[in-house]
Amino acid sequence: MKIHCSEDAQRIAERRLPNIIFGFVEGGTGREVGMNHNMSAFDKIKLQPRVLKNIDPRVMRTTFLNQSFDVPFGIAPMGMCNIVHPNADRIMAKSAVKHKMPLGLSTAASSLVEDVYQWAPESAWFQLYVLPPIEHTMALVDRVKNCGYKTLVLTVDTPQVSRRVRDLRSGFSVDFKIGLRQFIDFATHPAWSLRMLKAGRPGPANFPKDGAQFDRNASRALANWAFLEKLRDLWPHNLIVKGVTSFSDAQRIQKLGINAIYVSNHGGRQLDSVPAAIDILPQIRRAVGPDYPLIMDSGVRSGEDILKALVLGANFVMLGRPVLFAVAAGGAHGLDSLIEGLKYDLSTGMAQIGLKDITDAGPNNLTETDMILPHV
Ligand SMILES: Cc1cc2nc3c(=O)[nH]c(=O)nc-3n(C[C@H](O)[C@H](O)[C@H](O)COP(=O)(O)O)c2cc1C
Repeated sequence: MKIHCSEDAQRIAERRLPNIIFGFVEGGTGREVGMNHNMSAFDKIKLQPRVLKNIDPRVMRTTFLNQSFDVPFGIAPMGMCNIVHPNADRIMAKSAVKHKMPLGLSTAASSLVEDVYQWAPESAWFQLYVLPPIEHTMALVDRVKNCGYKTLVLTVDTPQVSRRVRDLRSGFSVDFKIGLRQFIDFATHPAWSLRMLKAGRPGPANFPKDGAQFDRNASRALANWAFLEKLRDLWPHNLIVKGVTSFSDAQRIQKLGINAIYVSNHGGRQLDSVPAAIDILPQIRRAVGPDYPLIMDSGVRSGEDILKALVLGANFVMLGRPVLFAVAAGGAHGLDSLIEGLKYDLSTGMAQIGLKDITDAGPNNLTETDMILPHV
């Protein structure tokens, strides 16, 4: 079955994955108002078609933090990806190389940081959670530096993991126990279950069994302002702070010499009443000025959504759930189809609004009525 868009990927993944796994990936916190709002906020933004313009050839290539990418979008860091497919991390890494895009590797990844760096040395960015014991976190930073990673993404929007009711109902946890309900769920999804039986249950690979344990519910609030300053001093390469939705926080982060801010509300997985990331983006752009590097995610589902985020002030855009759904739905081929579709729609979207070079996207591409409003 062919994947033409994010919605296809999600629909097929829902059929192929056990409910417990699909729910973990799809779910948001609370009543999932924040999660859904991320997407509906994109739908409200309109772009202005322009006519009779020369739009060939179109260039999607862009530079972000001195790295050149073929497209202005990439894969957001997600923990436990191999839970949807035993080779998910590897598939995503190979795809990131093929399409010359960045790949976020989570602290809670199910593959070793060393392996992922081998698979995608130019694309892999390491995402850091500051978990106790702090010694393990600092050792992980060292390990990542020694591997050769050049970009570190510190996630700060998860001081404590929020409840997700779907996970509570389904019994999802990092080391989930298999009761009758889960057994039936797995038995009715035999293709996924057989693959997992063969490969073994994925776990947080960078937390050795005989060392520091990965405790998903431990406070991550050790990531405070003092820690950020310390990390800035000891990390010599690109440092990005992920999970910012406040323009005053953004200004303070910028002043600390952080290389880029990643506007995100974690896909609505942390605070149900959070503003949509795309709604807050123009304010943050205004607060940090026109030249400061901004990246965003949360609710991006299509090529036109990517275009909208760039128009509203992002320099780069990431996607989370659609990528995992595409891998679950069709493995490497599924992810390739999703990415080709996103590229195609981004390119035709550019043609429609008269844009030849993606780096020229800006508030001028909003509808003429919207431009009257002080958006950016
Ligand atoms: C299954 C799953 C696991 C995630 N794990 C992490 C993580 O380990 N670290 C992190 O910074 N963000 C994590 N995120 C958040 C994503 O990086 C990203 O911010 C979010 O998925 C973007 O929203 P979208 O799914 O609507 O594209 C996770 C998201 C999902 C769906």
